Amino acid sequence: MVGEPNYSLRDEIRDYWSTRAGTFDLSVGHEIFSPRERLAWHRLILKHLGRGDGRRALDLACGTGVISHLMHDLGYAVTGLDWSEAMLARARAKATQRESGIRFLIGDAERTLENGESYDVLVTRHLVWTLVDPRAAFAEWFSLLKPGGRLLIIDGDFGSKTWVTSLRQVLERAVGRTVGPVHELDQAMADRHRSILSRLYFSHGTKADEVCALLVEAGFEMPVVDTRLGAIHRAQARHMSFLRALERSTQHRYAICATKAAR
Ligand SMILES: C[S@@+](CC[C@H](N)C(=O)[O-])C[C@H]1O[C@@H](n2cnc3c(N)ncnc32)[C@H](O)[C@@H]1O
Repeated sequence: MVGEPNYSLRDEIRDYWSTRAGTFDLSVGHEIFSPRERLAWHRLILKHLGRGDGRRALDLACGTGVISHLMHDLGYAVTGLDWSEAMLARARAKATQRESGIRFLIGDAERTLENGESYDVLVTRHLVWTLVDPRAAFAEWFSLLKPGGRLLIIDGDFGSKTWVTSLRQVLERAVGRTVGPVHELDQAMADRHRSILSRLYFSHGTKADEVCALLVEAGFEMPVVDTRLGAIHRAQARHMSFLRALERSTQHRYAICATKAAR
């Protein structure tokens, strides 16, 4: 609990996501709501990582297993790792229902305890912005990959306001309610989110260039920034309010693919 001795920022982040686990999959951008969106995600993964053909993939901070299942669709032998038991319970239930056989592990993405050079690819969506120590995480991820392996990061600068965010907030104040579905964060959760964000490494925003510089420092080669996520965003927009969809399309959202050199 907050205020208890030894309750760290990491505990706070884990508990925050555990509280959100129950409604996580209701949000557009978390679970997938159309075949069109699924296809767009598959295309993005294929573009950067190729087909699985039984290769080993680790989904870091897998949450409810959305990305893990996309990887499984493409023929990867997938392990999902997350430190929230509540998130993992949802991921495991989905895997049982879909008979996907994905292995889910509890653990810290900054120190996974998995064997070095044991994965062909690593994938992670919406984790980097919330890392406490990205340098430690990227060093760990580099060591997990086999030589020639690839890392695919899907993330964004969610902390910085765009002009659409400002417009939405003005409108929300005027009408006295939030624009968006009812499972959007309530005030207490929004305050927790803001408080955590202010203490993170990327509290100033998670810019792709800065992430790439840290990846190179950790030993990765050729990080490629891909901001062509329009097909995904357009598919999602069909299930969102106009303002939320516009906001999403104006945010700095990206995929980064980086390689560990072959020996
Ligand atoms: C925004 S959710 C994203 C979940 C999933 N990757 C997705 O895109 O659907 C963030 C997830 O990161 C997990 N997480 C945050 N920091 C972590 C860490 N250091 N180790 C493991 N999991 C972490 C949280 O528990 C939560 O499930």
